[in-house]
Amino acid sequence: MCGIVGFSGTRQAAPVLIDGLRRLEYRGYDSAGVAVADGEEIHIAKVKGYVKNLSDLTHDGADIRGLVGVGHTRWATHGAPNDINAHPHLSSDGRFAVVHNGIIENYASLRQELTKKGIRFVSDTDTEVVAHLLEVYYDGDPKKAVMRAAARLEGSYSLGIVCLDGSGRLFALREQSPLILGLGVGENYFASDVAALVPHTKNVIYLDDGEFAELTADTVTVYDVRGKTIDKPVSRVNWDVEAAEKGGYEHFMLKEIMEQPACFKATVEPRIKNDRIEFENFDLTDEELKSIDRIIITACGSAGYAGQVGRYVIEELCRIPVSVELASELRYRNPIINERTLLIVISQSGETADTIAAMRECKARGARTLAIVNVVGSTIAKLADHVIYTWAGPEIAVATTKGYTTQVAVLDLLAVYLADRLGLMTPERYSALITAIHDMPGKLQRAIDLNRGIKKLAKRLCNHNDIYFIGRNLDYAVCMEGALKLKEISYIFAEAYAAGELKHGTIALIDQGSLVVALACHEPLFDKTMSNIEEVKARGAQVLAVALEDDRQILKKADDFILVPRTEPILNPIAQVIPLQLFAYYVAKERGCDIDKPKNLAKSVTVE
Ligand code: G6P
Repeated sequence: MCGIVGFSGTRQAAPVLIDGLRRLEYRGYDSAGVAVADGEEIHIAKVKGYVKNLSDLTHDGADIRGLVGVGHTRWATHGAPNDINAHPHLSSDGRFAVVHNGIIENYASLRQELTKKGIRFVSDTDTEVVAHLLEVYYDGDPKKAVMRAAARLEGSYSLGIVCLDGSGRLFALREQSPLILGLGVGENYFASDVAALVPHTKNVIYLDDGEFAELTADTVTVYDVRGKTIDKPVSRVNWDVEAAEKGGYEHFMLKEIMEQPACFKATVEPRIKNDRIEFENFDLTDEELKSIDRIIITACGSAGYAGQVGRYVIEELCRIPVSVELASELRYRNPIINERTLLIVISQSGETADTIAAMRECKARGARTLAIVNVVGSTIAKLADHVIYTWAGPEIAVATTKGYTTQVAVLDLLAVYLADRLGLMTPERYSALITAIHDMPGKLQRAIDLNRGIKKLAKRLCNHNDIYFIGRNLDYAVCMEGALKLKEISYIFAEAYAAGELKHGTIALIDQGSLVVALACHEPLFDKTMSNIEEVKARGAQVLAVALEDDRQILKKADDFILVPRTEPILNPIAQVIPLQLFAYYVAKERGCDIDKPKNLAKSVTVE
């Protein structure tokens, strides 16, 4: 969703804010803006489109003078993406400027109330009500105005406020939407994500819901909802600024694809000690473990597709029934859940609104919750009974790659761990799997190296209007993610079908020249998938097969192929998805798409 930043210091604020917005642009790119106070006035610059438009407009911020300010990059909810609806929004008296992430649900009634008081609104946004509430409640004490205004708001939001009061003060408020304070020397910051803070400081404070902070260049004070000062722990961010930069790659997505062997290693190795899997924060007793009679995995988007892989693997190894539920459906479904349910919540950002809501709903019904999350200190990580972090590092491209593969890596590890604890695995099988897991970074590198030529394939196939992905069992689960990658970034209609289901409808669409991507790595069902390949070929389809590198049979049948290294079957989805990510990347590149910022999408969806 939207990205917000705030800065107070002794140097010019606008260049710092614009640099911060660049690092948060993955959250939304409909418009960008800054508001900077110079002691006499709040100056605003805002413009439709990318942060680049804002930096062009302001000469990288040099045109705007002042030492304190806020910035915003928008993913539009209320009001079209244009210059007027761009944040920051200013109060009529020019004393407060506001940036906002989230939705003010009662904005319509507040707008009506304020209009009756004679206030004239200039934008269509929900956010503008906040600026005007502040002005109405201001009586010389900005902190009081902030508290009184916040008490009127319903919904989920994080707010950044600059107030023209004395030398200029900043306020940061959090209610169900991420906000992190950065503590510098002689300057302080806030942002929606640590990515915007790490160039300046690694010392951060994670605000909790209902809390707000007041920042000046030298002080940071955190208050609870009643305005009482609270002591918050200072955390250290454990990654460097280079991790959130392109490092010579043309796109973040390509860099993140290439990082996957290392991310797998970083996620998995710390959890294997003396060839035994151990989790730092998932320590159920045998009794607790045996009491679990059902696992529900809930998530959105790719995280849900990682869950689909997890379902096959956990059921296969642990013999516990697993269902994968879209969070946006689960939350409203009156789900049947009790204390014997283990809810696995998967989220790269840890901030996805639907996932959080589904989690809260299931927790309230007694489920034990285990979160698989990439962002330390995120809402989902805080809400969960247990957390296993994916150590993928910051993921900037909107389309996830390393986030997904590290989620699958954790699910694989978890399945082996649970099967062992439940006494369902021989020591020989366990140690064979541990060896295979240790070998995976090399195999993932091979999955990249085997497909160096995929660019040419992408060039040849990039003009198809629709692409069908088929597979069975784990291959089918990978199809879902492969198809999603392609549609997200290349805008080609692509959909995954269980290969055996094709004949029950979708095959009607297969025609001369239709492109079918057939995943045929799951060996127990290889012959069945081959029959499905025959079926679509008989109807004129062109088949791009994804096959194990030592498979000779498929080469005779397919028109084109992508090869992947042989691994333990439960680990193979991670190797398979890498060439599919590369395929989507190069197809999108051929089609001239904006790969890191696909249209209409945002990386972190903090609204319903
Ligand atoms: C958005 C992103 C997807 C992502 C999904 C879930 O829709 O565009 O790439 O998979 O949110 O995000 P999460 O942070 O919860 O994994």
